Amino acid sequence: MAKKFQNFIDGKWVDACSGRTFENRNPANWDEIVGTFPKSGKEDVDQAVRAAKTAFERWRLIPAPKRGDIMRRVGDLMVARKEELARQMTREMGKVLAETRGDVQEGIDTAYYAAGEGRRLFGHTVPSELSDKFNMAIRVPVGVAGIVTPWNFPMAIPTWKIFPALLCGNTVVFKPASDTPATATSLVEILLEAGVPEGVVNIVHGGGGEVGMAIVGHPEVDLVSFTGSTVVGKKISEVAASTLKRVSLELGGKNAQIVMDDAELSLALEGVLWGAFGTTGQRCTATSRLILHEKIHDKFLQMLKERTEKLRLGDGLLPGTDVGPCINRDQQETVKSYVEIGQKEGARLVTGGSIPKGNGMDKGWFYAPTVFADVRPVHRIAREEIFGPVLSVLKAGSLEEAVAFLNDTIYGLSSSIYTSNVDKAFRAIRDIRAGITYINAPTIGAEAHMPFGGVKQTGNGHREGGWTVYEFFSEWKTVYVDYSGGLQRAQIDNYQG
Ligand code: UN1
Repeated sequence: MAKKFQNFIDGKWVDACSGRTFENRNPANWDEIVGTFPKSGKEDVDQAVRAAKTAFERWRLIPAPKRGDIMRRVGDLMVARKEELARQMTREMGKVLAETRGDVQEGIDTAYYAAGEGRRLFGHTVPSELSDKFNMAIRVPVGVAGIVTPWNFPMAIPTWKIFPALLCGNTVVFKPASDTPATATSLVEILLEAGVPEGVVNIVHGGGGEVGMAIVGHPEVDLVSFTGSTVVGKKISEVAASTLKRVSLELGGKNAQIVMDDAELSLALEGVLWGAFGTTGQRCTATSRLILHEKIHDKFLQMLKERTEKLRLGDGLLPGTDVGPCINRDQQETVKSYVEIGQKEGARLVTGGSIPKGNGMDKGWFYAPTVFADVRPVHRIAREEIFGPVLSVLKAGSLEEAVAFLNDTIYGLSSSIYTSNVDKAFRAIRDIRAGITYINAPTIGAEAHMPFGGVKQTGNGHREGGWTVYEFFSEWKTVYVDYSGGLQRAQIDNYQG
């Protein structure tokens, strides 16, 4: 019997109002059911929002350092359960154990950062233009936070949003991806065990169209934080506009790594293999384009082909596996169709380009790590996000041309350049249009305490991570205290005549 999971609303574990359920299966072995989950709808969301709204009135009055203490306990519990959480995540998401351990660690880092922030949440005190008057700006919570998260970082991304939301004093309605609901449920269990009171965190499982959009459109939800595709992000923006709620969108990418002719090639090779094929290419930050200087192009491509062919595909729980499956059949189909598009457009398939057979591969959604060369900036495989193990290689004659290729995209999340020339590195930092630039490191590997987010159609200008995410989850309140005992008029009393 598959394990049965439930929603958590107003302090109780409950089924969907409709009683409907959906199954969650292991992408490396489709015969294995991870569990059944409630297929919720608008009614369930209404209940969760009501609970979160009621709980907000109590939670906002808990001192931030005390909320921080809860976050510290959350971190401690995650440390104690790290291995178990990582294994559960690999079973439902597919990426290899080393990566799911890293995903949990990102959550732990975020928890301890939030714990410390409980004793900061700095505001400003600023001189007044009038005597005997005190001016300050303090941070206050926004209200009910709708949190809608993707499947590629089933623990890290929910923690990026939920921990700062709670620390600031907001309450949460959480809709995790329906491909990774078990990890999300574990996170909620940990929050409860750490002492988060009833109603403060609510989880509602189900589809994006039904549950996600009901949250986004709900008039009593005060802000929404979403990570996912640009198409869905635009829709969320539109729906949220009708209630003018605050929205943070973390969307697509078409990230590139540049390798200059003066680069340490073996280092650049390790970087691109990790950036392109780690997480089976299913990261917003994945390296999807490789821009090689023409002088090293042929040599590097050969090195890349050899190493790519040595990557071992398989179940992420097995030691020795480098690359796990795609998340589901749709994603595998998307990858397959982009490979066909690449071939039709005239790019040269260097390696991969097929669904592997045998060796247990038939039971999962595997796709061979794939490299295309002779890709031109106009090709669709150079422009559109694939979210799979497909790398498009372009050739550039100079730093200027390489940067122009890198910038020739509607997205702008992560970027990377390998060079041993400090002038070129700094020119790249100046000229690359992206939220994140790595020098001599791959496009993946953001740290929890640094701003995370992108420019152009990667988002709407907000940042997650570090101190910047606290801007999103708090509201500024400006306070003037006049202790002069008389009426003082700003702009007027000091400037008579
Ligand atoms: C994502 O792909 O949505 O920098 C997040 C990285 C990870 C986070 C990725 N730390 O690749």
